[in-house]
Parts: sequence; structure tokens; C-alpha cells
Amino acid sequence: MSEKLPRSMPIPQHSQPRIPRLADSQPFVDFMAKGWDSPQLTAPVDSAATQAAANHRENLSQAFTGQGIMVFAGQAPVRANDNFHEFRANSDFMYLINAQIETAVLLGHPTTDGHDFELFIPVPFAPGTADFFSNAIHGELWVGPSHKPLDWQRALGIPVRPIQELESAVRSGHFHAAGAVNATELGTLNAQDSPSLKRVLSQLRMVKDAWEIAELRASVNHTIDGFAQVLNEIPHAIRFGGERWLQGTFDRVARTYGNGPGYATIIGAGIHAPTLHWTRCDGPVSEDQLLLLDMGVEERSCYTADVTRTFPVAGTFTEAQRQVHDLVEKSHRAGLAALAPGKAYSDFHFACMEEIAKGLHDWGLLPVSVDEALSPTGQHHRRWLVCGVGHHLGLDVHDCSHSHYEDYQGALLQENMVLTVEPGLYFHAHDTMVPPELRGLGVRIEDDLLITATGYENLSAELPLDAAGLERWMAQAMNPAVRA
Ligand code: GLY
Ligand code: MN
Ligand code: MN
Repeated sequence: MSEKLPRSMPIPQHSQPRIPRLADSQPFVDFMAKGWDSPQLTAPVDSAATQAAANHRENLSQAFTGQGIMVFAGQAPVRANDNFHEFRANSDFMYLINAQIETAVLLGHPTTDGHDFELFIPVPFAPGTADFFSNAIHGELWVGPSHKPLDWQRALGIPVRPIQELESAVRSGHFHAAGAVNATELGTLNAQDSPSLKRVLSQLRMVKDAWEIAELRASVNHTIDGFAQVLNEIPHAIRFGGERWLQGTFDRVARTYGNGPGYATIIGAGIHAPTLHWTRCDGPVSEDQLLLLDMGVEERSCYTADVTRTFPVAGTFTEAQRQVHDLVEKSHRAGLAALAPGKAYSDFHFACMEEIAKGLHDWGLLPVSVDEALSPTGQHHRRWLVCGVGHHLGLDVHDCSHSHYEDYQGALLQENMVLTVEPGLYFHAHDTMVPPELRGLGVRIEDDLLITATGYENLSAELPLDAAGLERWMAQAMNPAVRA
């Protein structure tokens, strides 16, 4: 009665206790099989995205010659039982296919001069099968009319086959796998989780092409619009909803422009601003606070921005707030000045840290000299900046994380890399080593930078770096009439 399910599917709907067993009734199955028109479907990818993916596959093919390749799209996370959250494809799969097809597997068979690629996808259950109405994951009555292998083949320009054929397709050969779900399944597919494949993919993803840069530009621009929308909601958040209201505002913007936030949105008001990953966002917002906003829109292509600015809720920085902001700005500008092709990736880190250490020393907070603090065995300034001050950015917010240390921290900057620079100062409310007026203040400035032939372009430059500029930008954002 029901067709063989695609790989890794959870229990079909008709074997669950809470679902009435309609599929067991042959008269109902027969009745449901009739009377459906065929919808016309075009797979949702444009030719530029398809061409970019084809180029990425070719680059991988050249960088991984003679080796079998298997890249999994993955599956939607399950909270419990059959309660799925939204699917988001594995980033390596997106890089090579540029379409979010749940459960799909990209296979690359090595040839004498590269690879033959094929894509395997679950075939949606159309009218005529019991699964059409009883399979909540791939039954079209549950998920809507869906693209068939031929639709995807036309759109993507590579052979696309039903996933049930994957096992026979891998019978001869051994495959390096990325994005796999479990080791047992890999065993049955002659495949092994492959750090070397993931490393090569991370290396390729480190330098962006023109299509990827356009996606990142769109993402940053949408994110900046999100900043304006969030600031505009401050009066509401003060009255009702606090940090959560602002988080919801940004996430709605991100969901409208793209898939949603590219990482858990951070809205840190007041004493929450110094908490690096304040994603709980359950505090109030009030006039006397700083408001740290770390937010990024993930485009439909899955490329994400990652931008931070810190605003005074009242619209004007207090003297202590400005003092901290000015030092972070100085550090940020020093980091930006260290960006150019041919410079060491780690230069901007040291440039940022030097300014932070000098500033904290001037304020009398360091128990040692600046040189001692900056030495590898010192690092006293890091008490107030324990995190990194930048990273590669792309399909993942912390992109290219399967690179080796020497290919990342130890590498030189190259044209068309995209990275963040994000120094900050984080004075926790309960830190008795700082004067009372600094306790509970947190500031970060984070931009998204494209390395150009001669230096860098700040993709998020529309947001000012300095305190006075932020006050003006905020006033305009909170008064849409002026903004327009
Ligand atoms: N929002 C994460 C980061 O800045 O790295
Ligand atoms: Mn970041
Ligand atoms: Mn960030």
C-alpha cells in the first residue's frame, strides 16, 4: 500500500497512535486517488544561483581529484516525536547546489578529469498513493505540491534521481562524506565522515565569488533595515515587551527578507550588554541603558550578515557610556586599518587588542604595562574582552570553521574574503575590579568587510562607528518621517 519511504524518515503518520487510520481503508484510498489536477511547478532557483553552484562543484572537483564525494543536505530538526522545526540545509550542500532540498544527497563519482555529479532527492508523494494524504513529511496534501526529480534536474542542470536509488549508485566506490546524519547510515553507503573533504570545502568557501558577494551585500542591507526597525520599536519595548519585543522585531524582518536570523539574535539591554551571547533576551529595556544589538539576516540563499552596534536607549550617550564607546571605536578603526590583501589574517586582531590594552592602561585598570599585557603570558586586558574580534562570514556566521588553524588564523588575507571585525569591552555588573560607573556597561562594534584588491570595503558602512553618528542615525531611525 505505501511506497518505500525515503532514507531516515521518522515513523510514517499512519503508524502513529494519534492519527485516525484513514490509510487502512481501501475505499478511502481509492476515493482520495481520484479528482486531482497536476500543478505546474518550476523549481525555485534562478540561473545565477545555479551557475554559481555549478562553479563551486567544479572548484571542488579540481581540489578533490580522484576521490568520491557525498554531501548531505540534512533534515529538519525534531523537537519531539513528529514535531519538526524549520529545515535549513547544510551549508556545504548549499554551496554546491544552492537549493534547500531536505534529505537530498549530492554524489560525486571521480572521473579521469573531475567528477560526475548526481543529486538524489526524496520524491514527493503525489495523488494515487496512500502517502499522498497520510505522510506528513512528503505527502503533497500535507506539504503542498512539491518539485519532482525532473523539475529539479531542469532547474539545476545536473542529473536528479529518487533517493531510493542512492544505495545502488554507491555500490562501486568509496565516498568522503560531509553533512552526514549518522555513522551507521554512512556505513551502508560506503561512505565515511571526511575531515579532509570538509577542510577543502572550508578553504574554497573562504574566497567569495561575485554571486556570493552580491548575496552578502543584500544580507547586510536587509540587516541595516532591521536595525532601523528595531530602534523604531524602542518606545514600545520600554512600555511592553523589553528585549523580547526587539528580538521579535528583528526576527520578523529577517524572516520577511530571507529565511530568518542567521544566528540567534542578541539584544542586550543594560547589564545584559556585557554578556557575549545574550540570546535569552528576557530583560526589560529602560531609558538609562545601553542597548547592544548583534543581528544578521540570513538571505533565502542562506548567506548571512553579522552586524553589531550599541545605542543609548535614551538617544544620547552618558559620559561613561561614551568613554567606553570611544575606546571600542578606536580599537575598531585600528582593526579596519589592518585589512588588506597580503596582510596576515591575525593583524587586525593584534591591532584591535593593542588599542584596547592602551586604553585600559590609561584608565588605570591594568596591573601591568601595556607591553606586558600584550605579551602571550599577560593578556590582562582580555579580562574585559575574552572572545575573538572577528571571523570569516558567508553561508555560516562563523564561516569556514573546518579549516585548519594555519589556513585560517595563520593565513594571509586575500581579495574577496569577507570577514567581521568586532572588538568590544564588557564590564560585568559584578566586576569589582572596575569603577562603579563602568560596571554593567557593554559595547561592541561589528562590521562586515570585503577584502578588495587594494584594501577593504565596509559593507555595513551605512551604520556610523562613532557615538555622535550613532545618536544621529538613531534619531532618524526612530522618526521615519525624517528617515524618508
Ligand atoms: N553574533 C555572533 C558573532 O558576532 O560572532
Ligand atoms: Mn561576529
Ligand atoms: Mn555578531
